[in-house]
Amino acid sequence: MMFDLVIKDGTIVTASDTYIADIGIAEGQIAALGRDLSGHDQIDAGGKLVLPGGIEAHCHIAQESATGGMTSDDYRSGSISAAFGGNSCFVPFAAQHRGMGVTETLDLYDSRAQGNSVIDYGYHLIVADPTEKVLTEELPAAFARGVTSFKVFMTYDLMRVDDRQFLDILTVARSHGALTMVHAENSGMISWMSDRLVAAGHTTPRYHAPSHPALAESEAVNRAIALAKLVDAPLLIVHVSTPEGAALVSQARMEGAKIFGETCAQYLFLTRDDLDRPGMEGAKFMCSPPLRDVPTQEALWRHLQAGTFSIFSSDHAPYRFDETGKLSNGPTATFKQIANGMPGIGLRLPLLFSEGVGKGRITLQQFAALSATNAARLYGLEKKGSIAIGMDADIAIWDPTESRTVTAEDQHDNMDYTPFDGWRVTGWPITVLSRGQRVIDGGKLLAEPGQGQYVARAKTDLTGYPGHRAVELDPNTNFGAEIAP
Ligand code: URP
Ligand code: ZN
Ligand code: ZN
Repeated sequence: MMFDLVIKDGTIVTASDTYIADIGIAEGQIAALGRDLSGHDQIDAGGKLVLPGGIEAHCHIAQESATGGMTSDDYRSGSISAAFGGNSCFVPFAAQHRGMGVTETLDLYDSRAQGNSVIDYGYHLIVADPTEKVLTEELPAAFARGVTSFKVFMTYDLMRVDDRQFLDILTVARSHGALTMVHAENSGMISWMSDRLVAAGHTTPRYHAPSHPALAESEAVNRAIALAKLVDAPLLIVHVSTPEGAALVSQARMEGAKIFGETCAQYLFLTRDDLDRPGMEGAKFMCSPPLRDVPTQEALWRHLQAGTFSIFSSDHAPYRFDETGKLSNGPTATFKQIANGMPGIGLRLPLLFSEGVGKGRITLQQFAALSATNAARLYGLEKKGSIAIGMDADIAIWDPTESRTVTAEDQHDNMDYTPFDGWRVTGWPITVLSRGQRVIDGGKLLAEPGQGQYVARAKTDLTGYPGHRAVELDPNTNFGAEIAP
């Protein structure tokens, strides 16, 4: 049989195996794995690693922040930067702001994404206004259109939900098989610390770090897990930045609760010393939760190695270092007035490969799992995340020996800086295919905007997570009261 495309002689790496084979691609899918396959088109991958295309599952694209600032990347520039960094699919957020409906929100993001993305995409819905209509009609409708993960915030005044609203969302999500995601930080601790720091004249970016104490994260992670356990709902704690938060995730997983964890590149590679750069430079490194310290990095690496974190993301939240972004409140704004977030969608995988695989911290199998496979399974991307017959031919071919020095210009995003400027990385994705089409090859973008398609996602696979409702919610042990589905 002649395939449309054959990737020849590559070293295929999946979350379970490494082996040399050809991949035969037909009609955008992986049709055969074998030797001596022939195709109308061919890529010689001898000496290269052939991995599942990366799935960037936490990024903010064409999204207004709670205070109205727009991210600098839209679906075109964001997807291009993601693709140059080895990704063939991404799942940005569609943010409901208060007063907006959920259907209206998803329609808005459809209009932003359609015709622009060069790789396939879905959305996680951010729920900031869980009205009765949202809970009973719009979340089920979102689920039906393939938006199967809902994020809530426990902090940010204009976005956060209270514990009761959080329980409502967890309960609806559970009943539909959706996954709730949470930004877990204690809002009161942060505002109390921030106000006191500013009142005492400590306004520069470095004070962003003490304004978000580690305890604010661990308290909120603990509470979020308790809320999820009460109703036996699956919950992913995003961007975990502290050993205490990670330990809580690990403990809950050991108990069999449906709890998942994510950490991000910046918490492994940067520290709060970066916030203490001269002048306003530290603003480039402001994200929430904030950067911590070297012992924290080491602890987070151990949790990554041990499987506490299923997901490793960039949390790409790009705001330029100018009046459109970080400095929109002027060059002397207090840390409270500076947009939170940093770019990194194009560097998540090269940094993880170089610092993780290259330095012997994680295996190639863990790299494949953290690049793509775990996100595909957790977020219901059924045809993505592995190299197997019948899967979409979403593939990244890596040269494990190519060394590069990171520059802002090479990111292909719409940013004017990268927090990883000057980093030396070894291992680089040289070819990226999406459904069998070359998106990136030889350092060039070969896809047209709009080539990426919306992917309706399925339920999270919860096999192996027994979970159980709190005894007080279980009719067998609460005198027969049926109060939650
Ligand atoms: O600082 C960050 N991470 N900004 C993006 C929004 C969020 O909380 O993920
Ligand atoms: Zn967040
Ligand atoms: Zn985020």
